[in-house]
Amino acid sequence: MSVPLLQVDQLAVSFRQEGLETTPVRSVSLTILPGERVAVVGESGCGKSLTALALTRLSPTDRAHVTGRVLFEGADVLALSRRERSAVRGGGIAYVFQDPSASLNPVMRVHKQIGECLRGLTHAERFAAAVGLLTQTGLPDPVRAAQAYPCELSGGQQQRVVLAMALASRPKLLIADEPTTALDVTTQRQVLNLIDKLADANGMAVLLITHNLGLVAGRMDRVYVMYAGQVVESGAVPDVLSRPQHPYTRGLLAAVPMLDAPRNAPLRDIPGTVPSPDAWPTGCAFAPRCEAASPRCHAEQPPENKGAKAAFTAAGQNPIRLQPYDTPHCKQPLRLLPNARTKAGRSRARRLFFGRRRRIVWHCRRKRLRQIVACQDPDRAPNAQRRIDALRRAGPRADDAQRI
Ligand SMILES: Nc1ncnc2c1ncn2[C@@H]1O[C@H](COP(=O)(O)OP(=O)(O)O)[C@@H](O)[C@H]1O
Ligand code: SF4
Ligand SMILES: [Mg+2]
Repeated sequence: MSVPLLQVDQLAVSFRQEGLETTPVRSVSLTILPGERVAVVGESGCGKSLTALALTRLSPTDRAHVTGRVLFEGADVLALSRRERSAVRGGGIAYVFQDPSASLNPVMRVHKQIGECLRGLTHAERFAAAVGLLTQTGLPDPVRAAQAYPCELSGGQQQRVVLAMALASRPKLLIADEPTTALDVTTQRQVLNLIDKLADANGMAVLLITHNLGLVAGRMDRVYVMYAGQVVESGAVPDVLSRPQHPYTRGLLAAVPMLDAPRNAPLRDIPGTVPSPDAWPTGCAFAPRCEAASPRCHAEQPPENKGAKAAFTAAGQNPIRLQPYDTPHCKQPLRLLPNARTKAGRSRARRLFFGRRRRIVWHCRRKRLRQIVACQDPDRAPNAQRRIDALRRAGPRADDAQRI
């Protein structure tokens, strides 16, 4: 068996906020072999993104406390110095995130952003390399795209630019965190096919994070199903999809809409929501939503079963089955976008942004006051009504934004 490219043991991420410690990711272990395609699947809030970020200590805040072991090509990434770790990011492990417009700098031309990932080249060489990378991603007019600002490209084109940036440093592992969620359905397939093609061409391993089990079939080699900060089932994709063992995996599979389903068949869902990390249930985290839950499930954690053939435990619990193995810069339609190349365009962009914020603040204040009126609180309602009238007369004013 080949040596794993990435081996994660007992990874946990916790935050301390206002004296309260929460652990959104608790004890995640996973392995990726060189060139392998691995998926992590789970609903929103299961800890998929935090797990991916923690692999290179890229945490959303400085308060995140990461424990466990992350071996990338044999080196413990969590124990590396800051400088060594930044060499792993990009060079060894590259990320593609959900919203391409949030990953790109809106006031920098595309070729300059890609060029930042290319060291030791002259300006002309960097431009040529950026065009080459954009050509690899299948952009129809790579020279024009290289000279454009991100707002001049569509969502699918922006995601291709982000992919080109990720490829610039020739990573060995590409982590794609819901790379198609912000794209329309036709573009989603193109981007996923492109990731496959580029991974084949560059011999790259891929870790695809998604909430859609349907995307995993036929595309990935192995899958880890995550729930409430833990891996609840893992295995080869055909195995997990054809014989899911964990009730959560079965629920996720049942929720995938099928084309051959009878007409008017209701769409299935898993009742309830993922619990918040500050309120993990004592026993099995899935127990409040599980149809097969027994009283014991609510009281104690189910055991882990590391054998390839998992079986139900004597107590009727379903074991955890582990096989050995917003702030997009501008959401306006393109025709309304100001030209970022000119000074007048940039100042129009600023006016648009602040004007929009003022209107939102104005509407929020009116809504809050209307709620007070609706409560019919005799002390507060008349005053609130007077303030609503005053706001309506004044309109969204500049100083409203400053009061929030
Ligand atoms: N900066 C943070 N501080 C505290 N808790 C956080 C932070 N970021 C994420 N979380 C918690 O971690 C949980 C998992 O988040 P995330 O990994 O983004 O989920 P997923 O990617 O599976 O949708 C969230 O429910 C959230 O409560
Ligand atoms: S341990 Fe019990 S509650 Fe949890 S998934 Fe298995 S059967 Fe359901
Ligand atoms: Mg996420």
